[in-house]
Amino acid sequence: MDRSEYVEFILDHFNNPRNHGPLDAPDILVNGGNPGCGDVVTMYVKLDEDDRVVEVKFEGKGCTVSLAGASIITEMVKGKTLKEIEELPYAPLIDQMGEDVVKSRLRCATLGIDTLKGGAREYPSRKAMGQKLIQPIVLAHTLLTE
Ligand code: FES
Repeated sequence: MDRSEYVEFILDHFNNPRNHGPLDAPDILVNGGNPGCGDVVTMYVKLDEDDRVVEVKFEGKGCTVSLAGASIITEMVKGKTLKEIEELPYAPLIDQMGEDVVKSRLRCATLGIDTLKGGAREYPSRKAMGQKLIQPIVLAHTLLTE
């Protein structure tokens, strides 16, 4: 795809977000924010008995790239286990969005995936305590720092 096609793809996800909205009775409800700008996303996840994603939705208030990235990642993680989400590389998401288009906006592009990863990482210990995961996460880990 050329640059304009990537931009069109991002705008389509921003204007017609996939898997948007709250999810009833989620197993994971996790908030993530970008400290630099104040943009936030909430990810909702329903799991099966093997901790595999059966449904995932998001809501958010943020820039075009962050909300498009959150929409795209919901399409990429269905059927994955929490462990697989934790280990998910950034490259497939960045490739879908066009590396040249988002390379100066990596913190935006990765807000959704980082929030989801944070939830996947925290969930087992919360589950052991019988809690749903509802907490703000300050995001420090992105491609920019790795
Ligand atoms: Fe805040 Fe993009 S400017 S996430």
